[in-house]
Amino acid sequence: MAKKIVSDLNVNGKTVLIRVDFNVPMKDSVITDDNRIIQALPTIKYVIENKAKVVLFSHLGRVKKEEDKAGKSLEPIAKKLEEYLGQKVKFIPHTRGKILEDAVKALLPGEVLMFENTRFEDIDGKKESKNDPELGKYWASLGDLFVNDAFGTAHRSHASNVGIAANIDEVAAGFLLEKEINFIGGAVDNPDRPFIAILGGAKVGDKIGVIKNLLKKADKILIGGGMSYTFMKSQGLEIGTSICENDKLDLAQELIDEAAGKLVFPIDLKVTKEFSNESDARIASFDDVQPDEMGLDIGPKTLENYAEILKDAKTVVWNGPVGVFEFSNFAGGTIGICKVLSSLKDAKTIIGGGDSAAAVIQNGYADKVTHISTGGGASLEYLEGKTLPGVACVDDL
Ligand code: 3PG
Repeated sequence: MAKKIVSDLNVNGKTVLIRVDFNVPMKDSVITDDNRIIQALPTIKYVIENKAKVVLFSHLGRVKKEEDKAGKSLEPIAKKLEEYLGQKVKFIPHTRGKILEDAVKALLPGEVLMFENTRFEDIDGKKESKNDPELGKYWASLGDLFVNDAFGTAHRSHASNVGIAANIDEVAAGFLLEKEINFIGGAVDNPDRPFIAILGGAKVGDKIGVIKNLLKKADKILIGGGMSYTFMKSQGLEIGTSICENDKLDLAQELIDEAAGKLVFPIDLKVTKEFSNESDARIASFDDVQPDEMGLDIGPKTLENYAEILKDAKTVVWNGPVGVFEFSNFAGGTIGICKVLSSLKDAKTIIGGGDSAAAVIQNGYADKVTHISTGGGASLEYLEGKTLPGVACVDDL
């Protein structure tokens, strides 16, 4: 990557501001998936070992009014980080002010401080999310150097990434940001072939940009999930009560025409009459869905066909589950894809963040794929070929 990396900086004795994405799922203040914390450790450990004074910050959730703050403090995350680092992480429950400034000044080389949720600044005029110039300048004034390691937030142009970067001398990428760009960018821009993409998720509308960009790059795109039904209906097929975007039927037709055979669709489906895990289900061929049925997963023949296409793949990018995997009776397709990817001997397998990452992790395949992105929206926008502001703001080499 032609960008400055944290290892290009001289951090010794310097106050290094590190934007991480610790927007992790939590239930009753308990972290339910700490992948983003684990993935941020290499950068944090590196600057500690190289005697920096470390200031960490992140957003957590969305905060519009005072009541939204409940359950969104970063304090439990600072505690979790302490466990992983094996050292004290001084938590400051403020996003600005003398207490924070004094605590930053008091840091010794190798010490770590984390301050409060950056989006607490959104209550009074969306200062963080609208990249208020005064806020970015203020946060930048707390440190000497800035490291952006928040790939998950790289599609946002906020005060805590782009704003700080505009007001500080040196900006480098952390090792996680570097790894994400190398894996996702490498897969899309310079793939070993065959390069197969698997795209699922509910809506064609959410994936238009990705489909269009990947049609230029991939050898085949395997379609699954709710968006299959919009494509099927655009071909005049019965989809019963399946999810469908009726305003996207023409677009679906256009994408099929543009794809010239690169788009591959399910040949069978698991259908049921109610959106429920308990509802009776059957396997239907793609042209045998009844008016009172809805598809909630791909069927076994589709999985077999997709496995056959994937078996020679050298690069695979997967974004979006191929069925309602939250329902165990309709998780077979998504788990099947996990299995197929984990069995590929000679392929780079890249999992986009969000639901497909959750499916891979929850089903125990995390260590059997090449890379699981920590960015949901960010990986999607990157796959669309967009420039991410959180990457663009890093100094070029
Ligand atoms: C994410 O989880 O996708 C990132 O942390 C960004 O969060 P946001 O969508 O609230 O900006």
